[in-house]
Amino acid sequence: MQVHATIAEVRAARKAMGVQRIAVVPTMGNLHAGHISLMRQAREHADRVIATIFVNRLQFRPGEDFEKYPRTFAADCAQLEAAGVDHLFAPTEAEMYPQPQTYHVEPPAVQSNILDGEFRPGHFRGMATVVLKLLNITQPHVALFGKKDYQQLMVIRNMVADFNLPIQIIGGETVRAEDGLALSSRNGYLSAAERAEAPRLFQVLSRLVAAVRAGNLDYKQLEQEAMAQLQVHGWLPEYVALRKKLDLQFAPAHDSGLVVLAAARLGSTRLIDNLEV
Ligand code: PAJ
Repeated sequence: MQVHATIAEVRAARKAMGVQRIAVVPTMGNLHAGHISLMRQAREHADRVIATIFVNRLQFRPGEDFEKYPRTFAADCAQLEAAGVDHLFAPTEAEMYPQPQTYHVEPPAVQSNILDGEFRPGHFRGMATVVLKLLNITQPHVALFGKKDYQQLMVIRNMVADFNLPIQIIGGETVRAEDGLALSSRNGYLSAAERAEAPRLFQVLSRLVAAVRAGNLDYKQLEQEAMAQLQVHGWLPEYVALRKKLDLQFAPAHDSGLVVLAAARLGSTRLIDNLEV
């Protein structure tokens, strides 16, 4: 695997790929099996796979975990190598933001002020801005993102369509631990007791999905019950919401194509998850 720290280097490598089909998988590192499953899917869609690792300050709010976000570069490289990734672009902050970013991608409020955007104002703006930069730098034919971050995937799909980027966006299924907990770099923040409690988020969402499939149409009540189930076990739920898959807006009862999304704090760790109905 070739490792590139500068935009000039990765551009030169990209140019040398000629007419081959290129896939990119953007990450913030601290890689786990969820990331690696995206790398393997990328391989199926392209001749050459570029991974990126960059912890993007722009998408963290003051007081969030930017400083303590796990940085495990050597272990990440070993995993990427084993997964057959061809190129890694791992820039410094000075390379990506030689001066403070002045232009930003402003996702429409209807997409970015709801759900996670309500609790992390500015997050999707910072995320979309860096993703647009990474796509411009690597110029792939296809880019892969996980459904674990369902709203992120929706914002990226809409950005790519709105700006006419000639890039296919592919969503990868969420990879889970055996007990159902969605893999996440933030799971490493959990104490042993919290880690044992954490699968409840998946269990609560699974029960809600089962209820909808069984014909329960009182979405509001199902959402409130799910929040209450988390609360009694010490969680601080931010939202549990049944929405339309396509745009994450409110879903009329009987609608098909639903997804339930949730964010909840367990101790000082904020976990998100979702399940398609
Ligand atoms: P990061 O959290 O590192 O995630 C990188 C990619 O891996 C994202 O597309 C995410 O949805 C996916 N992913 C994370 N956990 C997953 C799991 N358990 N199963 C499947 N896919 C999973 O998301 C980001 O970084 C950043 O916001 C980024 C897009 C890189 C922009 O900075």
